Amino acid sequence: MTSAGIAALATQYAGGVKILVLGPGAREHAIILRLLAEQEPHDITCAPGNAGIALDVPCVNIDANDPDAATSLAVGLDVDLVVIGPEAPLVAGVADAIRARGIPVFGPNRAAAMLEGSKDFAKRIMSEALVPTGRAITALSLLEAETALDDYGAPYVVKADGLAAGKGVLVTTDRDAAVAHASHWLAQGGVLIEEFLNGHEVSLFLLSDGHHVLPLSPAQDFKRIFDNDEGPNTGGMGAYSPMPWLAQRFGSEEAFVREVIDTVGQPVIRVLEAEGTPFVGLLYCGLIITADGIRVIEFNARFGDPETQAVLPRLVTPLSELLFAAATGDLGGRPWPEFSADRTVCVVLASEGYPESPVTGREIVGLESARALAGVHLTHAATAAASDASTDDALIASGGRVLSVVARATSFGAARELAYTAIRRISLDGGQFRSDIAAVVTAAESKIADAEPAGHI
Ligand code: AMP
Ligand code: GLY
Repeated sequence: MTSAGIAALATQYAGGVKILVLGPGAREHAIILRLLAEQEPHDITCAPGNAGIALDVPCVNIDANDPDAATSLAVGLDVDLVVIGPEAPLVAGVADAIRARGIPVFGPNRAAAMLEGSKDFAKRIMSEALVPTGRAITALSLLEAETALDDYGAPYVVKADGLAAGKGVLVTTDRDAAVAHASHWLAQGGVLIEEFLNGHEVSLFLLSDGHHVLPLSPAQDFKRIFDNDEGPNTGGMGAYSPMPWLAQRFGSEEAFVREVIDTVGQPVIRVLEAEGTPFVGLLYCGLIITADGIRVIEFNARFGDPETQAVLPRLVTPLSELLFAAATGDLGGRPWPEFSADRTVCVVLASEGYPESPVTGREIVGLESARALAGVHLTHAATAAASDASTDDALIASGGRVLSVVARATSFGAARELAYTAIRRISLDGGQFRSDIAAVVTAAESKIADAEPAGHI
């Protein structure tokens, strides 16, 4: 179907289309809020969603990682498009099953999702596509792992081969810890030892229809739990978009994006297509800008979380049109999506004990007051209804990353101020958030406009 397709469908449904969004968290909430903000009144369902998402659209409590359950729901609702948020359903083959029923799906089949599901597979594709990345070896024994650690030297980078829910990567100068991590993941199925890459990280999302790619605007993620990038890695504690300092390094943000498409995105999509496993969905390029240029540190097969919360509010082109065009092989010949020049800052509120052992079940108060600030919205990651809550707007935290506070303004300074004012209005016992999200880029904004930050961001 062409993308006149979505306009025709929109007319058929008196202005909107039927979309099923699969996934439980803040990324899915961000996708849904963007779709709801479009002119056409789309008919959106989320599965399983959460208590916060349920305030905006109907949620159906199924196991979205189960191909049969997800397919039954999509067929039963007679949707025009399914958008798959997280990696687990992709790797479980949910896209394959729904696609087999003739329903357009935004999200790759299982085989192409291995780009995220196996770091060894990703390295092989990168090597075939001549993509710039760090040297790495897949160790088959502890001896091989130790040899590679000594060969590359400290800091050591040790990665689980398969999906590990953010716990698979260890970057450390402690050789014993590196060896222990390698030993643990060897026993679980596989481990990679990688060369350490030094530089600033950038997340760039590319939409793909299996052949063509279109870029979204870049974002910066903050992966460590504590300020100044200290403490363990998490799923992501905050983000901002765009990344003005890229312009200083590459001439313009567009020049940077063009280089990533030419040297990373398009070659990878072509190799996957040639192998008979076309990638339809979102190719998340996790990049480090080193002194020697752009290097890939990882691919994901889906929108990033929390970067999506920062990127999508700036998207001007209708998201439904882009997702539907990607799902139906129709991205070719389209202009790059348009973004507003506004700055967004997203700060994640996490439960006490996150990431190791989050304490759940605690009441969250003050959501209405946070949301009341103009320019601020919330996306929920792990919230549940509390039957005995003390106030009407109270929910309970049901996981590690609880929600994202997203602020949008014409400067990073203003967006940051708003985001932190809002998050301080929310109370969750033991709740934690980083206080330095977008701090360096805000300082750069007020000194030399758009300068590359000197510190580690
Ligand atoms: P990944 O899950 O592969 O994105 O790794 C998680 C985080 O570990 C990345 O966001 C980086 O901060 C860090 N990391 C991963 N690979 C490397 C590398 N080769 N060199 C330096 N840091 C890395
Ligand atoms: N923010 C990192 C990820 O989505 O994997």
